Amino acid sequence: MKSTGGKLYMKGLILSGGKGTRLRPITFTQAKQLVPVANKPVLFYGIEALKEAGIKDIGIVVGETKEEIKKAAGDGRRWGVRLTYIEQEAPLGLAHAVLVAEDFLGKTPFVMYLGDNILKSGIHSLVEKFQIYRPNALILLTEVPHPERFGVAELENGRVVRLVEKPRQPRSNLALVGVYMFDHHIFEAARAIKPSWRNELEITDAIQYLVDHGYQVQPHIVSGWWKDTGKIEDVLEANRLILESIEGRIEGEVDVESRLNGQVVLEKGARVIRSVVRGPAIIGEKTEIIDSYIGPFTSIQANCRVIKTEIEHSIMLEGSQIIDIGGRIDESLIGREVRIYQGQAKPRVYRFVLGEKSEVGLK
Ligand code: DAU
Repeated sequence: MKSTGGKLYMKGLILSGGKGTRLRPITFTQAKQLVPVANKPVLFYGIEALKEAGIKDIGIVVGETKEEIKKAAGDGRRWGVRLTYIEQEAPLGLAHAVLVAEDFLGKTPFVMYLGDNILKSGIHSLVEKFQIYRPNALILLTEVPHPERFGVAELENGRVVRLVEKPRQPRSNLALVGVYMFDHHIFEAARAIKPSWRNELEITDAIQYLVDHGYQVQPHIVSGWWKDTGKIEDVLEANRLILESIEGRIEGEVDVESRLNGQVVLEKGARVIRSVVRGPAIIGEKTEIIDSYIGPFTSIQANCRVIKTEIEHSIMLEGSQIIDIGGRIDESLIGREVRIYQGQAKPRVYRFVLGEKSEVGLK
């Protein structure tokens, strides 16, 4: 493929609209892109990946959770980037989101990053590849065990021939990863396609349009791990993968009767009393761990209390409390300001106050 050399100026576009129905009940009250992985909102991983690739002018497409997203990410100054919020009136598809951002993007080529995706190895080298070869589109692909859950690509002799969104019978196991690079021809494609069975303008169909009309669509197979955090088990898995490479840092207080093993991050004002924390784990500001065991791959946000409890492979969101549970909590995602405790009153019964779509697994 030809190289035209020189560095190409690119913008970023992060899609952070949509509904997040598969992450309920957490997403009844929180945007899915703000669910924390290793105590950091998923969305921030995308912003940081773009920044690392030298992209500083970033549009964020927002929908009904726009205020919350704006409040969390702000104007981007803290990362040294400029964030521009672009409203999408309804989640009418990824290609629709691209059209909504047309004024912001103009004729500048751009990286589109789905706000609920995390890519371990970042995107720096891929952005460079696009800048050097300048195809009309560059798509990232990776082999997955359940391709029917994603957009699926079919290659022939290394060229993209067909792309289908969530096919019932996938013809390959190569899923479209949620990071794409485009030049302005994508607007022509997004305008030409029709809504899919799920009534969305699919980016997958827009890319197929590019292929069918002789535009150059370059595939790139991703080797490092990639996660779409659309479902609870994927959020827990992303949490595990990120924590795997975390570096320990103790800014909180640990008493002499406690033990911390492995990589543990203990934020300012956090306290560990008569407890064992086996990393990798992260414990947020002002959280208290008392007479407890925190096992590997656990992220506990700020202002939580864990007392006489064992917990591992889990995520606990801000302001929650788990007190004196007779057993170990495993693979759980506990929302904000949740209270789980052992009551003293007789009879010893289970008592629940659960919102719609809550899930409780008893032993
Ligand atoms: O994660 C990779 C997959 O992402 C690809 O394999 C698929 O081809 C692609 O269509 C997409 O599938 P999903 O069904 O997982 O997309 P989802 O609806 O979760 O939306 C992805 C992100 O874009 C999410 O942060 C919400 C946001 N979004 C979504 C829609 C439909 C918007 O901002 N606007 C929208 O209209």
